[in-house]
Amino acid sequence: MQPNYQDDKKKEFGFTRKHFDLLRQKAKAYSGIHVTDDKYEMYYARLAKRLRLLKLNSFNEYLSLIDKDPEEFIDFINAITTNVTSFDREAHHFEYLKERIKANEIHSLSIWSAGCSSGEEPYSIIVNLYELARQHKIPFKLVGTDLDTNVLARAANGVYDVKAIEKYSKETKKHYFLRGVGSNSGKCRVKKPYRELVQFKQLNLINNWRFDKPFDVIFCRNVMIYFENDMKHQILKKYAEHLVPGGLLFLGHSESISKTNSDFDNVGKTIYRKRRK
Ligand SMILES: C[S@@+](CC[C@H](N)C(=O)[O-])C[C@H]1O[C@@H](n2cnc3c(N)ncnc32)[C@H](O)[C@@H]1O
Repeated sequence: MQPNYQDDKKKEFGFTRKHFDLLRQKAKAYSGIHVTDDKYEMYYARLAKRLRLLKLNSFNEYLSLIDKDPEEFIDFINAITTNVTSFDREAHHFEYLKERIKANEIHSLSIWSAGCSSGEEPYSIIVNLYELARQHKIPFKLVGTDLDTNVLARAANGVYDVKAIEKYSKETKKHYFLRGVGSNSGKCRVKKPYRELVQFKQLNLINNWRFDKPFDVIFCRNVMIYFENDMKHQILKKYAEHLVPGGLLFLGHSESISKTNSDFDNVGKTIYRKRRK
């Protein structure tokens, strides 16, 4: 359904097509996130919360604030990112890696979770692979990055609703998580040694990032769906440069790399291997 761009009188704050366009242009220039017309109501709902909190009266005031206040600009970006994630999402990727480890095909696991959101992805990597890697004496290193500073703080804190980990066995929960008591009941926390296995940091994928050493594995799942094709190609090129020959790239369920791409071979469902040239 086409959104109604009129300055809707029923809305608490007037929100016109012009406001929406200016805001989504600013967000795209900074993050690469391409926002389609159908996200008009979503933008209003998320940003109206900021206006309320800041006690502003209009989107014009908000637009001038984000132009002059870098801190509010970061909160604006944090408000418009979509951070949906969960433990063991697209678990076939973990199964694939377990099989490769058991078959002695993997000798080092330096892993980057790019667009790690609130941490469920990197901690799922630990729950699924860390002990197995240890048994096989495989060095293990894990970096988690995201654009959104709010989700990164939650990731580093490692606190979740117990419901989020209900699919794990009793032993797994006990091994990796502490159960909250008193005011924390209903919550769980990733145990400190496992939290410390992940190096979380802010990184904007569309900027000029660089790592000193290439990774064995990159997870970039459900992140590039928000980018336009040119940007996706540029990032894929950099992923190829940042993977060892034969290194693996895992994408989200609706993402793929074209067969004509000369850097990667498709080796499974949304699994790509960097070519050994
Ligand atoms: C839908 S979540 C995916 C989380 C996780 N990878 C998964 O599949 O469950 C997408 C994440 O990408 C992040 N993101 C969006 N644009 C980004 C950018 N330019 N640089 C880095 N991260 C970005 C968002 O902040 C969000 O946390």
